[in-house]
Amino acid sequence: MDFTDQRLSYEKGVLDQQSVPESPFDLLKAWMDEAIAQKVQEPYAMSLATCGIDNKPSVRIVLMREITETGVVFYTNYESAKGQDIAENPNAEVLFFWHELERQIRISGSIAKIDAQKSAAYFQKRPHDSQVGAWVSQPQSGEVTNREVMDQTFEQLQSDYSNSGEVPTPEFWGGYEITVEQIEFWQGRANRMHDRIVYTSENGDSWNTKRLLP
Ligand SMILES: Cc1cc2nc3c(=O)[nH]c(=O)nc-3n(C[C@H](O)[C@H](O)[C@H](O)COP(=O)(O)O)c2cc1C
Repeated sequence: MDFTDQRLSYEKGVLDQQSVPESPFDLLKAWMDEAIAQKVQEPYAMSLATCGIDNKPSVRIVLMREITETGVVFYTNYESAKGQDIAENPNAEVLFFWHELERQIRISGSIAKIDAQKSAAYFQKRPHDSQVGAWVSQPQSGEVTNREVMDQTFEQLQSDYSNSGEVPTPEFWGGYEITVEQIEFWQGRANRMHDRIVYTSENGDSWNTKRLLP
């Protein structure tokens, strides 16, 4: 397949270094609000890139569940392939791409587990069957013989937990927060003259902005 003749002109917005807010979190939240208002499907779905000591990057989608005062939070299995990468190398990048708004956001920083109590509070808010699913997918990214084995384990645990009521929070499951060190906001423009404004911070308090060549 050849896609070299496929091109779109991006003309839906502009991004100006003089008018961006001082804090990138204000812009992140404003862009997220617009994405929700424009009905972008799952705008909080982000590509998460990690790299373990083998120096081979891995990328996959996870759902951002919170924007805190310092970073962004998602939940996963700590013993998954990504969990192992993070244990070996606590640097990560996430990326959002919203075609409907011709926007991309890249967030990079250090990544660490969040407080276990906060993870448990979120786990207990999840739908019952998602809670059961977290127990079935252990270790996440491990090999399973076939679909039937997964389905049988799911049904077995569903029935076990329907008797005992609450599904316990697995120790191997919880949140990670990426503490933002750099955020780049990208707005597509015509003729590949896109706007790129990057925020960086040494201490997470004060931010510098730069415009980057597209
Ligand atoms: C839309 C979408 C949302 C997802 N959300 C999550 C999530 O929040 N947490 C998670 O662990 N996996 C999520 N996944 C699955 C991951 O992409 C991935 O398959 C899984 O986490 C295993 O990744 P790993 O083997 O690199 O650890 C999602 C996948 C998609 C397509």
